[in-house]
Amino acid sequence: MADRKAPIGVFDSGVGGLTVAREIMRQIPDEKIVYFGDTARVPYGSKSRDTIIKYSRQIIRFLKTQEVKAIVVACNTASAVALEEVREELDIPIIGVIKAGARTAAAATRNGKIGIIATETTINSKVYTHFLEELNPQLTVIGKACPLFVPLVEEGTFLNDPITEEIASRYLEGLKKEQIDTLILGCTHYPLISSTVGRVMGNQVTLVNPAYETARELKALLKEEGLENTEQKQDREAMHTFYVSDTPDNFRKFAETILPCSVADTTQINIEKY
Ligand code: DGL
Repeated sequence: MADRKAPIGVFDSGVGGLTVAREIMRQIPDEKIVYFGDTARVPYGSKSRDTIIKYSRQIIRFLKTQEVKAIVVACNTASAVALEEVREELDIPIIGVIKAGARTAAAATRNGKIGIIATETTINSKVYTHFLEELNPQLTVIGKACPLFVPLVEEGTFLNDPITEEIASRYLEGLKKEQIDTLILGCTHYPLISSTVGRVMGNQVTLVNPAYETARELKALLKEEGLENTEQKQDREAMHTFYVSDTPDNFRKFAETILPCSVADTTQINIEKY
C-alpha cells in the first residue's frame, strides 16, 4: 500500500503541464507534487506514437524513483497516445487530461457543436472525438491542430501579443464558421493563451480547460483509493519539487509567473538514463 504522504507525480513535455499542477495545488493544497517537464525534448505534438510512449515510460520510471503514489499525465498528447499503454505496466493509479476535458465539454455545450484545438498527434489520435461520442453520439466534433501555439507559449514573451492573435485568427477561422459553442483547449499549453483564443472566438463560445476537471478527478481518485494526504502541510510555499531535462533557468522564470509556490527547487536530470 502506497504511503498517503507520498507525492503525486505530474509530467508534461514542458511548461504546459504547470497549468494542471496549478489547479491541483488549488484544489488539493495538502498534496505534494513532483513535476517533470521534458524541456529538452519538447514538442511532443509532432512526434510519433512510439517515441511518445518511450518518453512517457522513461518519465514514469523516473517518477517512480521519487516514490510517487499516483501519476497525472499533464499532457494531452501523451494522454492521447501513451496513457492506456503504460497504465497496464503500473501498480499505482495514473490519469490523463482527456477524459476530464471531454466530460466538461459535453456538459457545457448547448448546440451540440464542440471544437477541439490541440497538437497534431492529439487531433490525429481522435481520442477526444471518441470520448465525446461515447458520452453523447449526437455531438458534432471538429478538431483543429494548432502547432504554432506551443512554441509561442514556450517562448514566454508572446502570450499577449498581436502575433499570437493573428495566428489564432487564422487557425480558428474554420471553427468559427462551423458555429461551435464550446471549444476544448486540448493542449496543456493553451490555457496560457486563453484570453487571446477567447477574444478571437467571441464570448458566445465557452472555453474548456481540462485542468480543472482533472484536478477534481484526482481528488476523487485519491479518496477512493485511500491515498489522500490527511496531514496539513505547514510550508505550502516550498513543498513541491521540479525536474526538467534541459537547463532549469527558463523553466524557473516561466513557472514563477504561473505557480503560487516557490520553484527554486528545480533540478536538471538526464532522462535518457531511465
Ligand atoms: N503540452 C502538450 C499537450 O498537452 C503539448 C506540447 C507539445 O507539443 O509538446 O499536448
